[in-house]
Amino acid sequence: MSAENQLTDFTDRPWLDPDARPFITLQGISKSFGSFKAVDNIDLDIYRGELFVLLGGSGCGKTTLLRMLAGFETPTAGTLSIDGADMSSTAPYERPVNMMFQSYALFPHMTVEKNVAYGLKRDGVKKAEIKQRVDEMLQMVELQDFRKRKPDQLSGGQRQRVALARALIKRPKVLLLDEPLGALDKRLREQTQFELMNLQDKLGTTFIVVTHDQEEAMTLATRIAVMDQGVFRQVGTPAEIYETPATRFIAGFIGSANMFDGSVEQQRGNLVSVRLNTGDLVISVEHDEPIANGTAVTVAVRPEKIRVSKQQPEPGTDNVMRGSVKEMAYLGRNSTLRVAIEGGQVLEVNSQNRYRARDGQHEFDWDDQVTVSFPPASAVLLTA
Ligand SMILES: Nc1ncnc2c1ncn2[C@@H]1O[C@H](COP(=O)(O)OP(=O)(O)O)[C@@H](O)[C@H]1O
Ligand SMILES: [Mg+2]
Repeated sequence: MSAENQLTDFTDRPWLDPDARPFITLQGISKSFGSFKAVDNIDLDIYRGELFVLLGGSGCGKTTLLRMLAGFETPTAGTLSIDGADMSSTAPYERPVNMMFQSYALFPHMTVEKNVAYGLKRDGVKKAEIKQRVDEMLQMVELQDFRKRKPDQLSGGQRQRVALARALIKRPKVLLLDEPLGALDKRLREQTQFELMNLQDKLGTTFIVVTHDQEEAMTLATRIAVMDQGVFRQVGTPAEIYETPATRFIAGFIGSANMFDGSVEQQRGNLVSVRLNTGDLVISVEHDEPIANGTAVTVAVRPEKIRVSKQQPEPGTDNVMRGSVKEMAYLGRNSTLRVAIEGGQVLEVNSQNRYRARDGQHEFDWDDQVTVSFPPASAVLLTA
């Protein structure tokens, strides 16, 4: 290992390694249904062992993309390779891929173990080996004690695990999961997210997961592709997408963001002053690339990065705005405030509840006069 490699460990971030070979490569992949483009010219590299999430609203083309990977749908244009092999003339059952469907599609009349064994049996695997592999798989998803039950005798979470076991028993190199937790209620969903991550980590199988739930995507993913109308708007780690959204669309789609519209007044080093379109405010934001004066921009700031106070801020504090509390939601751990600032814009601000509320007395109340502020490094400058 060279000294340079020791400094930069790419083990968990192969997409940053210039020498890493992608495991799945899509080049210019499109799919049209008649004149409608469901998937539009997508390029993507996925690396071995990733838990890659396709995130987007209903109808944006997520399932269509998965189905092309599985071979159930033929691309209208583009090429697709898995583990170095071009897949254009490879039938679904010959691909090193398995797909877990949204509906699970379990056989209702078969027991758990028969459901899990089904694929191996159909492939003519010997009985003794089937038994051993089914045992191993049921243990992995913690369903050993439920092997003789039928799907209708199981909870939603257990059915989900049977479907997982059935999809994994043939040891695919890639598992495609279409909304795998969609049928579970919120609490079980959150617990199952961790089970799914542990299982993936244990097996090292490459997972591609489709979801429309942004929190789920943030929890599960090594990287997320945010999909909209058949195209990828941004691909990155959860932190990259949250902290450095590429566009207003992404900033608004993932989590919430306060957006200030204005134009660039000047840039000094990596500090840009932006004159807002409303009111008389100039705010400063860090931005590394050069940007011309007069450029129309949006400054995005996350609610938790804004400080709210009833006191006057220390002299020299950046981006101070005066406002009044218009709405308040107490959420226990924190409160969400809506603060109307000079010029009329209403900001969403999160405030940690550091002190216990007594007799209904909270730190902030309706119509409180407050100041809000945020450091230039906590804001993102967007031009698209
Ligand atoms: N077989 C098909 N024939 C015609 N239109 C289709 C077909 N499959 C999907 N579509 C359309 O393609 C778009 C993307 O669908 P889909 O990939 O299922 O979206 P998602 O999974 O993101 O909700 C939708 O507008 C859908 O109606
Ligand atoms: Mg779908």
